[in-house]
Amino acid sequence: MKIGIIGSGNIGGNLGKHWAKAGHEVLFSSRHPETLTNLVNETEGNAKAVSVENAFEAKADVYLLATPFKAIDKLSELYAGEYGNNTIIDATNPYPERDGTMAQDVRDSNRNSSEYTAMKFNTAKTAKAFNTIRAEHLRDRAWRDTDKLAIPFAAQDADSQQKTQQLIEDIGFDAVYVGDLTKTDIMDPDQKLYGKSVNRQELEGMLN
Ligand SMILES: NC(=O)c1ccc[n+]([C@@H]2O[C@H](COP(=O)([O-])OP(=O)(O)OC[C@H]3O[C@@H](n4cnc5c(N)ncnc54)[C@H](OP(=O)(O)O)[C@@H]3O)[C@@H](O)[C@H]2O)c1
Repeated sequence: MKIGIIGSGNIGGNLGKHWAKAGHEVLFSSRHPETLTNLVNETEGNAKAVSVENAFEAKADVYLLATPFKAIDKLSELYAGEYGNNTIIDATNPYPERDGTMAQDVRDSNRNSSEYTAMKFNTAKTAKAFNTIRAEHLRDRAWRDTDKLAIPFAAQDADSQQKTQQLIEDIGFDAVYVGDLTKTDIMDPDQKLYGKSVNRQELEGMLN
């Protein structure tokens, strides 16, 4: 798949490296792509650094959103028209202390954070994944054949579900489907699945 990484920090940088190693084409993006040279050099496989605008123009199959939550409004306003038929994997978390009142508003609303992203990027299909795992576990505990960590995920439709499951499994994690986007409240900050690094059996137990 062609994958656009929107925000190439702790989460986007490490996931992009894993996906390139797994054979995917990775476009790391940043508002300052010239700062991503080391990341690209450290990446095994097909990867380059581009601006956020160029990542959207490239019409990737999948975009990973790995910026602060507050960036979603502007990113979606600027690029909404580019998203037709793409999957957005939303790895963000709303933190009012970092993201301001818009994050508090989403937390206080009757819509969870993945539904907010889906509403903003409404020409794409949204999935939620990788927001519950700690960045160092994402970096260090991929690529296991046994004793795999389980990644919970949710998706808006069958195509985004299939792509997200594949991208979790391609890098040596187990994928555990939580349901559609209405079910992701348990993945949000301070909720049941947040920050839990557990295996499939343990994660499935937490869902029951
Ligand atoms: N760290 C964790 O353990 C962890 C775990 C799960 C989920 N998350 C969530 O994943 C997201 C990313 O976290 P992170 O730890 O990877 O953060 P990070 O290391 O700070 O990386 C975020 C990247 O987003 C870009 N960015 C910042 N502000 C932006 C804006 N307004 N518009 C567009 N791009 C912007 C920055 O690149 P430029 O400034 O170069 O554009 C930066 O490299 C957050 O929502 C976080 O809550 C984090």
